[in-house]
Amino acid sequence: MENSTITNEELQAKVKNLETQLKKQEKMASLGMLSAGIAHELQNPLNFVINFSKISIQLIADLQDAIDNLRVSISAEEASDIKEMMGDIHENMNKIIENGNRATSIIRGILLSSRGKEDEFIPTDISMLVHEYVWLSYHAMRANYKNFNIAVQENYEKELPKADVVPQDFSRAVLNIVNNACYAVWKRIQGTHDTGYKPSVAINLCQKGDNLVLSIRDNGIGMSEEVKNKIYDNFFTTKPVGQGTGLGMGIVKQIIVDKHKGKIEVESVEGDHTIFILTFPFKTQK
Ligand SMILES: Nc1ncnc2c1ncn2[C@@H]1O[C@H](COP(=O)(O)OP(=O)(O)OP(=O)(O)O)[C@@H](O)[C@H]1O
Ligand SMILES: [Mg+2]
Repeated sequence: MENSTITNEELQAKVKNLETQLKKQEKMASLGMLSAGIAHELQNPLNFVINFSKISIQLIADLQDAIDNLRVSISAEEASDIKEMMGDIHENMNKIIENGNRATSIIRGILLSSRGKEDEFIPTDISMLVHEYVWLSYHAMRANYKNFNIAVQENYEKELPKADVVPQDFSRAVLNIVNNACYAVWKRIQGTHDTGYKPSVAINLCQKGDNLVLSIRDNGIGMSEEVKNKIYDNFFTTKPVGQGTGLGMGIVKQIIVDKHKGKIEVESVEGDHTIFILTFPFKTQK
């Protein structure tokens, strides 16, 4: 092309840029496949956990009958001890089933989103959804980081109408933000010598006209201007190598802004706090 305005250097820069983009996309795609694979593999052992707990509940009931029919006499005290223990086991089993089911629904979410199934907007109780994922994030942090003791305040406006959201996506966004908040607080706990520091994450959900406003505030390490400007960039992370993908906030933006036609505001003071405010309409689809 004689009249081409693109110089050789520009062309090379373009190719390089495309190569970088391609590499990022490949990384994204393999991450998606990886998580789908892991999710799928997890479902099998999880089925064992849930099914054997159910069988054990039945066994406890049978055991109770067998004890009731015992010919040998046991003291009233012994009988009540046994009853109490069996009651505890029964309760534990129910907890195992409940959490097993919770894990199953998360796995289903991962499989659905990584297989790219059609998005379905479903009228959803956002307070319940947020509460569930805050709980999940908090307990995952407690399981992973010793002495992770923080105050979680939750404040949900009463009797909010349901909002049309894609639940598995919306919950993923909530989980990412709350995970980040918990991590920021954890980081500050690690770095501070201030014995008066009270780590906390505060969740607030209320209605504002046609929108719901969800704010997530943490008094963790906060962000510098530089970090704040990059949070939505894919693969941007300040976590140690191997710990963060740097995809969390990019996914949040895609879900809240692109999919749910909402907006995200962020306010942060380094070393002090961060607040994410999500505003999204009750009815996303007209
Ligand atoms: N609440 C917060 N407080 C302080 N920094 C935050 C907060 N939320 C996000 N960040 C900053 O934004 C960066 C990008 O966040 P993002 O969720 O995209 O990735 P990540 O948390 O590093 O990795 P991953 O989500 O895969 O674990 C974080 O590494 C952190 O520097
Ligand atoms: Mg994150």
